[in-house]
Amino acid sequence: MATEADRALPRFPDGFLWGVATSAHQIEGAAEEREASVWDVFTARPGRVKDGSTAAVACDHYHRYREDVALLAGLGVDAYRFSVSWPRVNSPGGLDFYDRLVDELCAAGVRPVPTLFHWDLPASLDWLQRDTAARFADHAAVVAARLGDRVTTWITLNEPAEHTLLGHAIGVHAPGERLLFDALPVAHHQLLAHGLAVRALRAAGAADIGIANSHSPVRPASGDPADVEAAGFYDVLLNRLFAEPVLLGRYPDPMVELMPADAQADLEAVAEPVDWYGVNYYAPARVGAPGSGGAPSGGPPLPDGLPFRLREIEGRPVTDSGWPVVPEGLTDLLTGFHERYGDRLPPVVVTENGCSCEGIDDQERIAYLDAHVRALHDALEAGVDVRGYFVWSLLDNFEWAEGYARRFGLVHVDRDTLERTPKSSYHWFRNQLRARR
Ligand code: BGC
Repeated sequence: MATEADRALPRFPDGFLWGVATSAHQIEGAAEEREASVWDVFTARPGRVKDGSTAAVACDHYHRYREDVALLAGLGVDAYRFSVSWPRVNSPGGLDFYDRLVDELCAAGVRPVPTLFHWDLPASLDWLQRDTAARFADHAAVVAARLGDRVTTWITLNEPAEHTLLGHAIGVHAPGERLLFDALPVAHHQLLAHGLAVRALRAAGAADIGIANSHSPVRPASGDPADVEAAGFYDVLLNRLFAEPVLLGRYPDPMVELMPADAQADLEAVAEPVDWYGVNYYAPARVGAPGSGGAPSGGPPLPDGLPFRLREIEGRPVTDSGWPVVPEGLTDLLTGFHERYGDRLPPVVVTENGCSCEGIDDQERIAYLDAHVRALHDALEAGVDVRGYFVWSLLDNFEWAEGYARRFGLVHVDRDTLERTPKSSYHWFRNQLRARR
């Protein structure tokens, strides 16, 4: 019987962008060579990271970036999505590092795709403050002035939804605030930061700009009207709240009055047109009303008092993170966006997709990626204009509050020696990429 490893993937259009993704705080290390971020402060507090680890060394990518770029070149990807650490950019010599990294990528024929914010906010800043949005636009301008001669494709923010929910509403990520709905200004200030950064990047000559938002198709736990209503509200919070200001220039109705008073006046800036829309997809969400039956999902531990509960999706394999494997959720998500937003949806790029599992012979990861790339192709055939796909992640890395206990890499990183060993999934992806050239 043919395994996933033997089967060729369906053909994607010429010019489709294949890549892998990482983020600065999760791989760089060299924490002493930059100012502190909210994540350094958070991980220093006991009990916040499951294995008690920090990202002070992480994968030491800061010192080993040449080896990592060689791994990218060996893989044969078109593009590499990494993030630029704002605290490092603020520190002496910080931009020099990204300068060297971009040169190395260009020399290897890999397109650099920097994300300007992937959760590691300078510890001196706070997204509850509106001014942080303007500071972010300054950061974008500084990075673009330095790298813009070689970088054409930019990502403003990574997953403002998760950063708001996990970091500010329920406090399981940095900065560890538990504000519940009082965290909504954090969502708005990030969206404003996105729009102002798009303007700053355009002023610096950038022509290919997107955002990487996390989205999941949301299914009600049952046909009971209370579950349907709860699922609808969760869909607003996770999906529409972050897509509609960017794509339509408005907040979805139920949220308008919950947003800061000055939010309406900012929407023109928030909706500054993007060239493409990035979607990070891992799994769908099944949602019920409080008091509805069913086991809890493997998702984040939401406190009582919220008008919804995340429920287990039954009958599916789960990854080491406890997330169900539902490839067709990616097709549903993208076709759903296409139907909902029509010609207001620019071309889509899947900016993250992947799974955590153990082992160097990682057949589960191959099966996951194979199935999700096929599901992506189904979305393409259904008429969604999909332009690229990035695997999360190149390396096993610092998985936030899970520490190093969850491995998402195509390349294994030994925690003692930091030695890199390409896994079976790396070889599978390389062979798939070679076959299409
Ligand atoms: C984030 C990554 C994270 C991955 C797996 C995404 O939400 O952008 O930083 O490692 O999911 O949890």
